[in-house]
Amino acid sequence: MGLSVAQKIIKEHLVKGEMIPGKEIAIRIDQTLTQDSTGTMAYLQFEAMGIDRVKTKRSVAYIDHNTLQTGPENADDHLYIQTVAKKHGIYFSKPGNGICHQVHLERFAVPGQTLLGSDSHTPTAGGIGMLAIGAGGLDVAVAMGGGEYYLIMPKIVKVNLKGRLQPWVSAKDIILELLRRLTVKGGVGKIFEYTGEGVKTLSIPERATITNMGAELGATTSIFPSDEITYEFLKAQGRENDFVEILPDPDAVYDEEIEIDLSSLVPLAACPHSPDNVVPVSELKGIKVDQVAIGSCTNSSYKDLMKVAKILEGKTIAEHVSLVISPGSKQVLNMLAQNGALASLVSAGARILECACGPCIGMGQAPRTNGISLRTFNRNFEGRSGTPSAKVYLVSPETAAASAITGYITDPRTLGDEPQVEMPKSFLINDNLIVPPAENPDEVEVIRGPNIKPFPQGKPLPEVVVGKVLVKLGDNITTDHIMPSNAKLLPYRSNIPYLSDYCLTPCDPDFPKKARENGGGFIVGGVNYGQGSSREHAALVPLYLGIKGVLAKSFARIHMANLINNGIIPMVFENPNDYDTIEEMDELKIENARDQIEKSDVLIIENVTKGLKYRMVLNLTERQRQMILHGGLLNLTKAKGMN
Ligand code: F3S
Repeated sequence: MGLSVAQKIIKEHLVKGEMIPGKEIAIRIDQTLTQDSTGTMAYLQFEAMGIDRVKTKRSVAYIDHNTLQTGPENADDHLYIQTVAKKHGIYFSKPGNGICHQVHLERFAVPGQTLLGSDSHTPTAGGIGMLAIGAGGLDVAVAMGGGEYYLIMPKIVKVNLKGRLQPWVSAKDIILELLRRLTVKGGVGKIFEYTGEGVKTLSIPERATITNMGAELGATTSIFPSDEITYEFLKAQGRENDFVEILPDPDAVYDEEIEIDLSSLVPLAACPHSPDNVVPVSELKGIKVDQVAIGSCTNSSYKDLMKVAKILEGKTIAEHVSLVISPGSKQVLNMLAQNGALASLVSAGARILECACGPCIGMGQAPRTNGISLRTFNRNFEGRSGTPSAKVYLVSPETAAASAITGYITDPRTLGDEPQVEMPKSFLINDNLIVPPAENPDEVEVIRGPNIKPFPQGKPLPEVVVGKVLVKLGDNITTDHIMPSNAKLLPYRSNIPYLSDYCLTPCDPDFPKKARENGGGFIVGGVNYGQGSSREHAALVPLYLGIKGVLAKSFARIHMANLINNGIIPMVFENPNDYDTIEEMDELKIENARDQIEKSDVLIIENVTKGLKYRMVLNLTERQRQMILHGGLLNLTKAKGMN
């Protein structure tokens, strides 16, 4: 039986298990990446394992999220990451070098290899034919130590791309179309593998836009084949030696199939406040825009920004619009500076930000109160922009540029002929902001500023677990709700005690106080609890506050893994109607907790206050049961050794 691209890479890296969808497998990890927001914790955890040098082929630590320095906290964290990286064999990408996924694609990603990153948009590297998965920092720490990565073998979805895009329709519109059709839950437990004649019409950055935002489908990852276009890209990056061809076998078997006729697509926009709330841009005509933000790991490549520059050339943005542009990398910015495109952007009125995540993570450029912001980013959850009342629309760079000129949401097809941008034959290569690991690690001292606090560690599960329901939440609670990540809080990512004052406060301002007063307890959630970013803090901070378990109608994949990694029990209502019978401050009790978790897939939890018993489905693998029993992955790793 023939294999798909994803199946070939998994087979090559398979350490444990069988490649049957739904079954647990373990794969070897070739590369890791971290960004600073999750990285500090990942390196603290790596250090706690007592391993001298990373065992991966390549590990890279990026500084791209918290680049604003209004106090010493971020700078302290950067220095800690820089020194810990240097000591332990990790490449360090300095602030200003760019957004992790863009730089990784340019300088490190290798087709056919596996990449585990402590950022949910790690699948960006799937655009180059890499099996790239987002995970919690702890999983990445274990992978750096040479441990395999455990996951449930996903279903492989064949996305057959037919035809080619019409003028002014872009890669962003392809992934928005998939989000429109499948929703933010549609990709859970799946890998989206792109095939068909349309693949050849897409450059690597365009493919990467699609695999990047596959994360919004909830997918395990997304991947393109590695073909002659991949070769040309790597060659232009001076990395042709990294090329290997990986195509699906002609008789490859897929679990599901979807077809997209590229020629029938139109410019699309995801409306507030969800990336799957997608409509044609033409239907939004006439909405006045306050801010246009171009950048992020989704749309800040050389090709994206050249297109924007050509659209803006000789024009002026509308007087009520603030246009901010964050180039994806130093390479991109440098090339725009050299070829004059930067001058076009500046002349048109763009405000050029540094090469970093910037507004995407709420690091500056919050829109005005009730403002309308058009962004080329991948997420538009309420409040993520830094302004709770703002409305964020996600669009392509073409739509963003057209709207910046008119001041209203504008279908770019109304602008006339589309300017063409060719991929460069050679990129400007200058890696002087990438610091290699030390040759002599003993000479490197790891520097810890006062903001670096020890992280909480789980305890072995007791026989009886008792606690109150501290909060009852609705559907689609995001990790942004659980642990807000705004410019004020980001500098404290290595300071869990400080962050705990903000846990779940967007949903219930009293949650931290209640958790403290009751010595921890339980959280009750609805459908898709923990969707959004891979933020491990959304599990670490509840652990610090004494959360013992989360009862929900369903969980988002990465967050559920993060809960288990930290010894918090994720439980799914077997009968969703039971959710309705629970109220805040009800007392819950799990008798024989260790025995139940060890032996059964269903856990009985008693609502002592109401005199009811609930059957909760556990969905745990054998190894995950062990993690819960030991109080988390780190305890299990220490108890059992790396493998
Ligand atoms: Fe950064 Fe936003 Fe991507 S925070 S890694 S640009 S999703």
